[in-house]
Amino acid sequence: MLYKVKKMERVLVGFVDDFDDSVPESVEINDKLILVVKIDDKFYAVDAICTHQEVELTDGKILRFEGKCPQIVCPAHLGRFDLCTGKAVYKPPKKPLNTYEVEINDNQVFIVILDSD
Ligand code: FES
Repeated sequence: MLYKVKKMERVLVGFVDDFDDSVPESVEINDKLILVVKIDDKFYAVDAICTHQEVELTDGKILRFEGKCPQIVCPAHLGRFDLCTGKAVYKPPKKPLNTYEVEINDNQVFIVILDSD
């Protein structure tokens, strides 16, 4: 049997109340910019750089939909990404954003980073 072990790290990025509703914040973890958004007390974390032309999404607008996952709109060419799956849902971007698990523990917000090295 061959097993591939992934190293998991939980990185503290702030406290729940540090994040305003629907206001994207970026945090840098291992030289990678990650976007963290709190919407209705639920947290989402995705890559903070658009896969179209590498524009930062921190200034992107959040779109909310009744009963559906919210999206972020890239400020450059209005491409859109689903915040649950990272999928590009409106052109021009075609490639998805990476998504990250967010854990809340004792009012602290952690991003879970998996490293297969
Ligand atoms: S850089 Fe994001 S849509 Fe073009």
